[in-house]
Amino acid sequence: MNKLRYPPIAPAVPHLLHGGDYNPEQWRKTPAIWDEDIRLMKLSGCNAMSVGIFAWAAPEPNEGEFDFSWLDTIMDKFADNGIYAVLATPSAARPAWMSRKYPEVLRVDANRIRILHGIRHNHCYTSPVYREKCRIINAKLAERYKNHPALILWHVSNEYSGECHCELCQEAFRDWLRQRYDQDLEKLNHAWWTAFWSHTFSDWSQIESPAPHGERHLPAMVLDWKRFVTDQTLDFFKHEIQPLRELTPRVPVTTNFMGTYPGLNYWKFAEFLDVISWDSYPPWGTMEISDWELASRHSFLHDINRSLKNGKPFMLMESTPSVTNGMHVARLKRPGLHLTASLLAIAHGSDTVQYFQWRKSRGGWEKFHGAVVDHCGNEHTRVFRDVAEVGNALKKLDMVVGMQVPAEVAIIYDWENRWAIDSASGPRQEQKHYEETCIRHHRVFWKSGIPTDVISMDCDFSKYKFLIAPMLYMLRPGVAERIAAFVKNGGTFVTTYWSGIVDETDLCFLGGFPGPLRELLGIWSEELDVLNDGETRSVLAAGQNSLNLTGDYKAHIFCDLIHAETAEVLATYEDDFYAGFPALTRNRYGKEWAFYIASRNEDAFLDLFYSKIISELAIKKTLDAVLPEGVTAQVRTDGEQKVVFVLNFTQEPKTIGVGSPVFQNILNDDTITGTFELPPWGCVVLKE
Ligand code: GLA
Ligand code: ZN
Repeated sequence: MNKLRYPPIAPAVPHLLHGGDYNPEQWRKTPAIWDEDIRLMKLSGCNAMSVGIFAWAAPEPNEGEFDFSWLDTIMDKFADNGIYAVLATPSAARPAWMSRKYPEVLRVDANRIRILHGIRHNHCYTSPVYREKCRIINAKLAERYKNHPALILWHVSNEYSGECHCELCQEAFRDWLRQRYDQDLEKLNHAWWTAFWSHTFSDWSQIESPAPHGERHLPAMVLDWKRFVTDQTLDFFKHEIQPLRELTPRVPVTTNFMGTYPGLNYWKFAEFLDVISWDSYPPWGTMEISDWELASRHSFLHDINRSLKNGKPFMLMESTPSVTNGMHVARLKRPGLHLTASLLAIAHGSDTVQYFQWRKSRGGWEKFHGAVVDHCGNEHTRVFRDVAEVGNALKKLDMVVGMQVPAEVAIIYDWENRWAIDSASGPRQEQKHYEETCIRHHRVFWKSGIPTDVISMDCDFSKYKFLIAPMLYMLRPGVAERIAAFVKNGGTFVTTYWSGIVDETDLCFLGGFPGPLRELLGIWSEELDVLNDGETRSVLAAGQNSLNLTGDYKAHIFCDLIHAETAEVLATYEDDFYAGFPALTRNRYGKEWAFYIASRNEDAFLDLFYSKIISELAIKKTLDAVLPEGVTAQVRTDGEQKVVFVLNFTQEPKTIGVGSPVFQNILNDDTITGTFELPPWGCVVLKE
């Protein structure tokens, strides 16, 4: 096997997977529909279906009473028809008998009220009863289907989320804290700075999770609570997969993530999953941002999911073939968009295109959510044809399976940093926008067709040429040193205002910001000014600066007032009492440079600034072309062959010049060279 090519997700299936959530248990009274489903799956080029999600009441209608006959039939039909099963454990929704008999499985909200039975995604992660019930049903599933030819992957639960504040969870939290602080309450009191407002604890039992009517102004505690929720959810997940690992050691395991869902630090999960998967629902056409910006935002999310396992292909586990019923404006996908959006995931490293959902349910909360098969029940719909078009395209792309995305650039987006930023009081409460800021920096590279990883501050930086860490407010131990080593050894680093402020328990660094990054950046940040919404200051490139920057730029919201200690000043503020202060610096450190952007500048600044560094570092672009607005080009490679995706996320045709190389569009065998046109929402997949 080539070093740069990963094996397929299911070793026996060397194809891109296509399919989605399938709930045959809703149609047990009309088995003719099951046969129709199979026919339609084949017709639409679907080869992998997720079954059993939320289905618990079907295999275990009463406690200890099991009925898998319906699932046996479905699994056999799959196997007979060349369709694979992504088999789910059912823990994301529970049967009513369980809630009634064992109320401890029901979650307690932050307000300390236990919920009633209903909806989904709402069990206690600590409850020994719930864990045991999950173990039993998961073991039954694994035992029954361990040798079934259709089974290729475990889909564990669904979108883990939320938190529970019951007494069991409180005790687990206290245990977790005891471990983290070496059984030393004094250590915790110091780390949380509890002398402030007399929040000092004299006994572990006094500690309670954050609550709207209780503690919520102790940021370090909020941070630790979030860490605990991640660890406890992960612990629950490990319980869930135990029987699967024992009985089906060769079947890979995943659980579907939700982008940058703030409640869980997915980096902690990554090593325990065999493959990463996630659910992507861009609200196309909602006008709040343009569709191409939305595509770039979801590319940032795809890039995180690929980076979670160090570049290993991930799964697009859910997307909608049509509308997303939960959106405020549940618009139809415009013709062409379905294929292009699906290929966007593949371009960023997904080896699958899966949907929620296969067939529209007849009743229930999501009966109006887009599905491959609509209520009319046949293939004669626009959406079905769109899905079949994706099915056809994926069949032609076997060569992409396992290919990597060759990223020379990485952006740090770190969950714990986000939590710390969000739970800080000040300096512009509603305008901190950490994630949005990372996306804006990432977008410059997306627009230029430059593959970019999105990593955490704990990742290995050494494989990159260029590392960008917007708003690196919190630094865990050793991170500053690792960044400094990266620059010293030849990597280029950029960070911004509000970096190097607190340590991992939210204690401010003493002795001058940006704390442990001060020497690397060669600056001291003395104060941070913030602006009102709509207010701006201007930043002017210094004459004759070594980056050849020119012009002036608007700064919004954050203006950091810094002193250059050893750094070169590349731009200065033009107004207010800090006119003439440095606004952009770079500092030589070992072999390379560390840049500091002191203010939140308009996108035109980011475009120019990064374009200078991109050419200085000779960072490779996917195509040697200037891409028109709304078009991206992304690449996957096994180190020898390359597949290039050129995707138009606008409703206008776009012209692209690829120069002299001669490409073949894998989708229709057209030859592409010189200049070509992409139709509205159009795409090509090229090989040289
Ligand atoms: C989530 C869930 C699905 C479905 C979709 C669409 O991603 O995992 O079960 O609810 O949203 O709303
Ligand atoms: Zn609980």
